Amino acid sequence: MSTNITWHPSLSRSERNTLRKQRGFTIWFTGLSASGKSTIATALEQHLLHLGLAAYRLDGDNVRFGLNKDLGFSEKDRNENIRRIAEVAKLFADSSTIAITSFISPYRADRAIARDLHTSSSTTEDEPLPFIEVFVDIPLAEAEKRDPKGLYKKAREGKIPEFTGISAPYEEPENPEVVIKSAEVSVEEAVRRITEVLGEKGLLR
Ligand code: PPS
Repeated sequence: MSTNITWHPSLSRSERNTLRKQRGFTIWFTGLSASGKSTIATALEQHLLHLGLAAYRLDGDNVRFGLNKDLGFSEKDRNENIRRIAEVAKLFADSSTIAITSFISPYRADRAIARDLHTSSSTTEDEPLPFIEVFVDIPLAEAEKRDPKGLYKKAREGKIPEFTGISAPYEEPENPEVVIKSAEVSVEEAVRRITEVLGEKGLLR
C-alpha cells in the first residue's frame, strides 16, 4: 500500500441506506465452470430489479474482458482476480446496491478474504456489509456433460492448462449461506431459495 494517503470519510452506511431506501450487500456465487452460476445470478439480478431493488452483476468472463484483462488462470492470477472483484463488489455494496458476483473463485482463502473485506470493521469504516455466499454445487461429471463452451473437452485434450476441476483445484465452501444443487433444481427454484434466505436475514426490507 502507498504511504502518504488519507481516508476521507463520507456518509455513514446506515445514512446512505436510509436515503437510498435500500441496504447494500454482496451475493457471492462460487462453483465449477458450467455449474450454472451465471444463469442463476442473471435470473436473480432480474428478479431483484423487478422488485424495485438496485442490483448489479459482475461476471467472470465479462470482467476478464476489461478490468481484469491482464489476468490469466494461474493460482496467483486467480487470487488477484478475486481480490479485485471483492473490492469492486464492496464498492457497489457500499453504495447501497446489491452486488452479485459470479466467479469460479476456486480457493477458500480468496473467498475468505472477500468475506472479510465486507464483514470486518476497520477504523476507517462503519457497519459491516452483509456477505452471502452461494455455492452452486454440481458433480464434475455433470458439468463436463453440459460443457456449453466445449472447454472441458479441450481441457481433457490438454489444450487448456490449469482448468478448474481437471488440472486445477476447486475447494468447496465449508459454510456457505446457500447451497444450490444445480443439477437437481430449476433456475426459478434456485432464485426462490436464495431470495428466501435474503428475506430471512432481513436484507430485502
Ligand atoms: S476464477 O477461477 O474465479 O478466477 O475464474 P473466473 O474469473 O470466474 O473465470 C472463469 C471463466 O473463464 C473461462 N476459462 C476458465 N475457467 C477455468 N479454468 C480455466 N483454465 C479457464 N480458462 C478459461 C470459463 O469460460 C469460465 O467461465 P464459467 O462461466 O465459469 O464457465
